[in-house]
Amino acid sequence: MKIVTIVGARPQFVKAAVVSRALRKTRGLREVLIHTGQHYDRNMSGRFFDELKIPLPDYNLGVGSGNHGAQTGRMLGLIEEVLLKEKPDWMLVYGDTNSTLAGTLAAAKLHIPIAHVEAGLRSFNRQMPEEINRVMTDHVSEILFAPTEVAVVNLANEGISGKSVVLVGDVMCDAAKFYSARAAETSSILKQLGRRKKEYALATIHRAENTDALPRLKIILAGLGRAAREIPIVLPLHPRTRHAVQQAKLKIPAGLQIIEPVGYLDMIELERNASVIATDSGGVQKEAYFHRVPCVTLRDETEWTELVASGWNRLCGVKSPMQLAKLIISSVGKNGQDVNLYGGGQAAELIVRRITTWKC
Ligand code: UD1
Ligand code: UDP
Repeated sequence: MKIVTIVGARPQFVKAAVVSRALRKTRGLREVLIHTGQHYDRNMSGRFFDELKIPLPDYNLGVGSGNHGAQTGRMLGLIEEVLLKEKPDWMLVYGDTNSTLAGTLAAAKLHIPIAHVEAGLRSFNRQMPEEINRVMTDHVSEILFAPTEVAVVNLANEGISGKSVVLVGDVMCDAAKFYSARAAETSSILKQLGRRKKEYALATIHRAENTDALPRLKIILAGLGRAAREIPIVLPLHPRTRHAVQQAKLKIPAGLQIIEPVGYLDMIELERNASVIATDSGGVQKEAYFHRVPCVTLRDETEWTELVASGWNRLCGVKSPMQLAKLIISSVGKNGQDVNLYGGGQAAELIVRRITTWKC
């Protein structure tokens, strides 16, 4: 059996790291890895392949950045060429990026069955490019690997149910479990940054809704600046956000320690030693919970509603700097319930088993 996997953006490298390992342990199965090139800086891509020992891509399409249509369109044509040559039995896609959508469309048109990892997530906000990508992908996938029960219900509400929907847990939980010990052994990021355990907060910002709307970006930076008067904040800055800050010539408030994006092992160390995490990232919201750190989400809604329900995550919205700072500070020490939300770290194994035994 031959499976083509599509990756392109940072969170997909983390997800593919665990699933690719499980795939390549399976006899009679060959994975062909396509990197679309959506993310390409060393800190956003190459470093993940090296540190997480992800097999080198068989194809790097080098698509790079661009407007949604142009970027997705370039990927679509190039992925189609690879699929025509490789003739795989399956297409495996992750999450909700433009790389996901391009892989999905290319495969669907060639009648190659699609397995979607992280299916059924919904923000119910169609302004988000990710929401469009995930809805489209779910509706043409053969197997939908749902990470949560909420995702299963979301799919059922759109008429997708039955044997094609498989609740497997979250592959990011597998990754956090697998790499935590290695992170503890190898990362010296706290020392490098001059930070002590539980004496700083960690923040990330990259969502288009926060970076492309200047008023929101200003509120977030000012809010983090206020919070940083009480607790220093480490902010590994996504290139999208760096460009937005530079373009608008925004001043970085004192107390915010801006650094380049870090590798996944350093990120684990930063996350689990933070006293609180403020983020608009999907993956980082979950990782805060994996490492049992309270999280404040800098968005108006989240797909990971079980984190809010169990008290690990507080939805902040982006209303005023004061409100944002208050919520960050007051969240320190506010742990949620002791619940198991994302499976036991076996999602990758379950995914591989289901694909290899699937009967259409
Ligand atoms: C993409 C995904 C988003 C995901 C995020 C993970 C889409 C629509 N969005 O958003 O769902 O949460 O990845 O990080 O697919 N850039 C660089 N170097 C890089 C990559 C990007 O400088 O290596 C800059 C470019 O200016 C680019 C901008 O970041 O235009 C945005 O990159 P893009 O991949 O389009 O979207 P992300 O915001 O990264
Ligand atoms: N991440 C990382 N370094 C960073 C920021 C994030 O390794 O500087 C990791 C993070 O631990 C998580 C993934 O990247 O595993 C999340 O990616 P991102 O926030 O870019 O995207 P999202 O999950 O929102 O789609």
